[in-house]
Amino acid sequence: MDKQVLLYEGKAKKVYATEDPGALIVAYKDDATAFNGLKKGSIAGKGVINNQMTNYFMTLLEREGVPTHFLRELSERETLVKRVTIVPLEVIVRNIAAGSFSKRYGVEEGVVFDRPTIEFSYKNDELGDPLLNTSHALALHLATEAEIDTIRTLSLRVNEVLRTFWAQCGVTLVDFKLEFGRLGDGTIVLADEISPDTCRLWDAATGKKLDKDRFRRDLGGVEDAYAEVMGRLRNHDAR
Ligand code: TMP
Ligand code: ASP
Repeated sequence: MDKQVLLYEGKAKKVYATEDPGALIVAYKDDATAFNGLKKGSIAGKGVINNQMTNYFMTLLEREGVPTHFLRELSERETLVKRVTIVPLEVIVRNIAAGSFSKRYGVEEGVVFDRPTIEFSYKNDELGDPLLNTSHALALHLATEAEIDTIRTLSLRVNEVLRTFWAQCGVTLVDFKLEFGRLGDGTIVLADEISPDTCRLWDAATGKKLDKDRFRRDLGGVEDAYAEVMGRLRNHDAR
């Protein structure tokens, strides 16, 4: 499958058309941004790790009954995916208070919730991805009620699968962001990526941050953290 026209270049990925109208190629870059593009940098090797980690989890999730856009890995940085229309909602699932939740509600980072929380942001860079509720999403025609129900159910299922997996690697899944898409027939499938860019991952023993917060917060050791979690994932299967 060959890359044809560049359809879209985002902050961390490029998307190309292919000769198959139903398939796209996603190419992962090492570029990193934070705070809606205000902070810019690069994380060496990130594109390879994010591509491989995402594909590993998409495969695992398919096995666990979560439909995804994944078709096949083409190279270290490139993957063939089903063409979808992205639902303009960022779905954030949290197990532990951190990041914007802690800031917004004045809760110390690390407070463990009784049950996972789920929230939606409007995927719109110009507006800075504002938080919204279900009735706002319906008013804006971002998705139907049935689609939002499906997205909620699938996201909580993803949380259970990922949380269990990472726990077996000695990693605590604090929170993560998902995006969903619609296939031509309207089926909702998981899209985008699942990586240290989009998940908070803390070492279960020490609490050390092993994700993009090292970049966002200038904590250093960014490349090492990405390599560490990828190594844990590989060791999981070697056992
Ligand atoms: P937050 O606490 O900053 O709202 O982030 C929640 C989760 O979402 C965290 O795991 C990082 C991820 N995330 C993204 O994937 N993309 C983004 O643009 C932001 C702000 C967060
Ligand atoms: N990728 C997002 C941006 O550039 C933010 C983030 O991951 O923190 O704004």
